[in-house]
Amino acid sequence: MAQPLNLTLPEKVPTHVAIIMDGNGRWAISRGLPRMAGHRAGTENLRRVIEACIEFKIRYLTLYAFSTENWGRPQEEVQGLLRILEDVIDRELQQLFDQGVQLRHIGRLDRLTPHLRNKVMQAVELTRTNDRLILNVAFNYGGRDEIVSAIRGMLQDGVKVEDIDEKLVSKYLYTAGVPDPDLIIRTSGELRGSNFLIWQGAYSEWYFTSTYWPDFDKEELRKAIIEYSRRERRFGGVSQNSEGNGINAG
Ligand code: FPP
Repeated sequence: MAQPLNLTLPEKVPTHVAIIMDGNGRWAISRGLPRMAGHRAGTENLRRVIEACIEFKIRYLTLYAFSTENWGRPQEEVQGLLRILEDVIDRELQQLFDQGVQLRHIGRLDRLTPHLRNKVMQAVELTRTNDRLILNVAFNYGGRDEIVSAIRGMLQDGVKVEDIDEKLVSKYLYTAGVPDPDLIIRTSGELRGSNFLIWQGAYSEWYFTSTYWPDFDKEELRKAIIEYSRRERRFGGVSQNSEGNGINAG
């Protein structure tokens, strides 16, 4: 039987939460609004979720803002999302800085205009020493692309075959130095990974909710964390309660 939700936060808070912020378009369409209105509402929601993460003492937050596949969307929407990235930096950077947020970018900057690329790099540089919340913004990010880029990096550095192991590969990923996500959330009811953190998410707990991203607020995050805290993570081992006879691997 489902246990009632205890709405105070449990002890076991994930160190790193990653979110696929999905459902902006459907949120807008369901209100008779253009899709971009959904992206703007989703952007407003960023502030609430970042504040909640700080309050819940989550140390790392990774947000999937634009995938390497999103370039295939209508030009108007692609341009709108690029504009949102610029607006977020222009309007929110000071507040993020004041909140102790360290901004990082994961993905490729090469398809952005030099102007926007510089803005992103300056924002990263400005907040470099903050450590209350490390916020990774995945923009023009793809998990497969990241692995290809890691392989290229290792070859360029002349890494010897016998020196390649999981630890070394992790160092060549965009997320070098960031612990793997404990919890990956996907909003909007879609049940896919969509090329997000495919290496880093090997043992992450997944949480799916039908709530569209613009409506995913602090209480929704709290529910996800409570659900996470009830899971038993085995990392391919057996249950601690199985007294040596456990058959559960995964
Ligand atoms: C998926 O919803 C959402 C995106 C592709 C963009 C997410 C971007 C934001 C929340 C804005 C914040 C952005 C930055 C740059 C920090 P969808 O459009 O695929 O929704 P749908 O599946 O309902 O159509």
